[in-house]
Amino acid sequence: MVDVILGLQWGDEGKGKIVDYFAPNYDIIARFQGGPNAGHTLYVNGTKMVLHQIPSGIFHQDKINIIGNGVVLDPVTLKKECDAVASMGVDVKKNLFISERTNIIIPTHRALDKASELAKGESKIGSTLKGIGPAYMDKTGRNALRVGDLLNKNFISKYITLRMKHQKILDSFNFNDDISDMENEFFEALEFLKTMNIINCEYFINDQISKGKKVLAEGAQGSMLDIDFGTFPFVTSSNTISAGVCTGLGIAPKLINEVFGITKAYCTRVGSGPFPTELHDATGEELRKLGSEFGATTGRPRRCGWIDLVALKYTCMINGVTQIIMTKADILDSFKSLALGVAYEMEGKQIDYVPFQLVGTPVAPIYKQMQGWNTATTNMKQHGELPATMMTYINFINEYLGVPVKYVSNGPGRDQIVHI
Ligand code: GDP
Ligand code: IMO
Ligand code: MG
Repeated sequence: MVDVILGLQWGDEGKGKIVDYFAPNYDIIARFQGGPNAGHTLYVNGTKMVLHQIPSGIFHQDKINIIGNGVVLDPVTLKKECDAVASMGVDVKKNLFISERTNIIIPTHRALDKASELAKGESKIGSTLKGIGPAYMDKTGRNALRVGDLLNKNFISKYITLRMKHQKILDSFNFNDDISDMENEFFEALEFLKTMNIINCEYFINDQISKGKKVLAEGAQGSMLDIDFGTFPFVTSSNTISAGVCTGLGIAPKLINEVFGITKAYCTRVGSGPFPTELHDATGEELRKLGSEFGATTGRPRRCGWIDLVALKYTCMINGVTQIIMTKADILDSFKSLALGVAYEMEGKQIDYVPFQLVGTPVAPIYKQMQGWNTATTNMKQHGELPATMMTYINFINEYLGVPVKYVSNGPGRDQIVHI
């Protein structure tokens, strides 16, 4: 049995916190896509931790955490993160497994990411510059180095071949940053990676499932950043949706049970690209301030706006979401009125679907206005305590999406969540 937790917007929905909250109900927590572009925040005994490569179940000592084949892995980030996690008393050598099919991000991937963004100028994606796009390009281009290759004698010669290939592209960009320090760090980190539990993930995970073990698949980014269904080309380079669980872990579709979709009570986006309900006014500024909306990976300010139900209905459909978890509801506590995007106006017509062309064609959101609850909710624990106005907001969302909001998260802490 496999359940999935994934983001329904443009990332940063609070997946880290929610995975950490649900982890006690599972035996295995597995990342299936993305890489160090992710920044998943959780609080461990009051200490803030941001995880980029390691699954968010790592602080539950008796759980197995897996970095799946669909992930792109930066050994340098992994090593730093393992050191940080180990310093908090976690035995990463015991609890963290890495698929031998996981693709490796090498230093020139990061250089290529930067060179490509510089060349795009104004039309840049706003990537995290972690080398994600180039690493996935080498996967589909069938050039990549994988974790299992590390154990082969010809690893270095394969590395040199790939690096030379990258150098030619970097030369064509006239990009000549010195990456020798990055390379030294990389080779040191590879020695560390070799000491980790490198496994055949697809046999392991299927064997565990057949023994009745429960798996929680942890998504990174969000569905509107999916390479196929997101706001292309302003997307990431992997399938962030539930289908990615099958290819990213080696799990058959019939094994997927619950799909928990995470949405903020409002909406944010970091990086470039369309965002129909974005607010460029004082309300947007207020959301950013109250929600501390700054990227967990890059520190960039996040763009903020109202919840977009058109996009959410689309991502619920694509993912087969069975229940919704609404996070950061407390950030709306002080708002007297709220708005929910319920349709788009495009070329003079009202539409209620996500069109092919969100990029380039201006789309104006049409809003449903609602009264805010204007009550402090962060200490509430029970469904019955939630303000009636909040329940009206939630019930409207339930009805629009046809999928129920089952949990409301009302603070960053592990225990700040209300089951509806
Ligand atoms: P992720 O990438 O989806 O894991 O999300 P991030 O960690 O990038 O961003 C979510 C931010 O919101 C983090 O700083 C969390 O600590 C915080 N957070 C998560 N849930 C809540 C919530 O319900 N209320 C508040 N105030 N903060 C939350
Ligand atoms: P988590 O898992 C928010 C965005 C970048 C950029 C685009 C492409 O924390 O939700 P990439 O580096 O992947 O090539 O960048 O995707 N992006 C994210 N935005 N949260 C993330 O991860 C993101 N990962 C990538 O800002 O717009
Ligand atoms: Mg994040």
